[in-house]
Amino acid sequence: MAKYRPFPRIALPDRTWPDKIIDKAPIWCSVDLRDGNQALAIPMSVEEKLEMFDLLVSVGFKEIEVGFPSSSNTEFQFVRRLIEDDRVPADVTIQVLTQAREHLITRTFESIEGARSAIVHLYNSTSPMQRRITFGSATREEIKAIAVDGTRIVKDLRSTVPGTRVLFEYSPESFSDTEVDFALEVCEAVKEIWAPGPGEKIILNLPDTVEWGPPNTYADQIEWFCRHLSGRERAVVSVHTHNDRGTGVAATELGLMAGAERVEGTLFGNGERTGNLDIVTVGLNMFSHGVDPGLDFSNLPEIQEVFERTTRMTVPPRQPYAGELVFTAFSGSHQDAIKKGMDLRSRSLQPDAAWEVPYLTIDPADIGRTYEAIIRINSQSGKGGVAFVLDREFGYELPKGMHPEIGAVVGDLSDREGRELEPEEVFEAFKREYLDERGPLRLQELAEAPRYADGVSSTECVATVLHDGKAEEVKGVGTGPIDAFANAMRSRGWDGFEVAEFHEQSLGKGSETRAAAYIKLESRDGAVTWGAGVDTNITIAGVKALISGYNRIVAKRAAAR
Ligand code: KIV
Ligand code: ZN
Repeated sequence: MAKYRPFPRIALPDRTWPDKIIDKAPIWCSVDLRDGNQALAIPMSVEEKLEMFDLLVSVGFKEIEVGFPSSSNTEFQFVRRLIEDDRVPADVTIQVLTQAREHLITRTFESIEGARSAIVHLYNSTSPMQRRITFGSATREEIKAIAVDGTRIVKDLRSTVPGTRVLFEYSPESFSDTEVDFALEVCEAVKEIWAPGPGEKIILNLPDTVEWGPPNTYADQIEWFCRHLSGRERAVVSVHTHNDRGTGVAATELGLMAGAERVEGTLFGNGERTGNLDIVTVGLNMFSHGVDPGLDFSNLPEIQEVFERTTRMTVPPRQPYAGELVFTAFSGSHQDAIKKGMDLRSRSLQPDAAWEVPYLTIDPADIGRTYEAIIRINSQSGKGGVAFVLDREFGYELPKGMHPEIGAVVGDLSDREGRELEPEEVFEAFKREYLDERGPLRLQELAEAPRYADGVSSTECVATVLHDGKAEEVKGVGTGPIDAFANAMRSRGWDGFEVAEFHEQSLGKGSETRAAAYIKLESRDGAVTWGAGVDTNITIAGVKALISGYNRIVAKRAAAR
């Protein structure tokens, strides 16, 4: 295939980055207001940019690229507004981008007048493709001269903003498809002109402007650059990845392992084409490995709301961490495992115990997501998921043995409807199947009396039962109320079952407390049928559960005929 070629590797057989781990947060720089903004169909207004700026500050960014002030009046005015309204906190540094052209650099300096501190970010493209196509076959020397001249102008113009601490960032744009020795040569030349003094650093930002290659190759380039850069301690090496091959996050993470100490990116990866690096993902990846990212994503839904409103972009449902469906399991086996993990955790007496819930990399609560969406019910769902919804949302702790039966009832319903079921619909299905007294038997009245004679306890019950709507009186004696009522039923020929299990729980609290009872009935042929009942009185709840189970046996027999 001649049209496309393999991406060239660089020679780095003794690379060390694969053995490194990310154990501390980098310096983060948000480029939402510049790279992200320039990729929007409708760029943000000044008001929207202000709201986004405040959001970025509240998340914890200390470096924020606020725009490309020489590119438009809105961009320029926004920077002025930030400075004149004193909206930049003392510990936050704004960053402004400029091409390496004198009149644009001059305008950029005009925009930052009065700022406490600002990073002036100069860039020019260095790759062979850009040199040949965009700059009309410019030589390496000509490209280096653009960078060096631009740096000199920035350095000279510092004196025009005496009250501002001017920091400097240089980007050899398209670094990842530039010959690495040439990118280094340009950066060395720029660094020599800027000449950071003791305690000062130049930011060298190495963009994966278009992600032409795989992330391991980018990491090799970063490690090679860091190893060969002279006066490494006078530079902050920064990564700036895009996501054309879908591996922008991987490229940044491997770049950090390879020696970079600063990361540029945007919230949710908004940016040119397939986007910039998603800082939320990289930050929360660190968080999920116990490394404090230094950014606060504890209310991600709120961050997402401001982001979506100001950019008019939407976060896709499968976006890591933020997407609507990322904590949701529809499939039965996943739901079962999640339920077990969550149950174990809620029983644990150590809320800070290590997070171990199958299929969930982090606790949704840590980023402001609720548990409600973890398990959603459709025809793929299983018993565990249905039981989870009934338990978490409605407080019904169905015994484990009952899960397959209710799972099948709800699964059939979703299959018939051909859609996902809301939690209320799951509960309605449970109620219809077990709790609604649908006949043929219904309890109308019940009186029971405990007896104790010769060291033996028993219970006698007298009840009025509606049988197909006709009131009938029944009587029975048994070891307890349920046994007594079962014997009363048998005396009328409503039989063919044994009570195999009985469970009870309380629902609600205080004066609202009710009892829920679950009963397992076994027919002579070994078939199992469950019943459930709810009442303020535990005995009545149990009798209702028995009647519910019996009625379901009758319905099954009728359906089998
Ligand atoms: O992607 C890129 O190369 C850029 C530069 C201007 C840093 O955004
Ligand atoms: Zn970019």
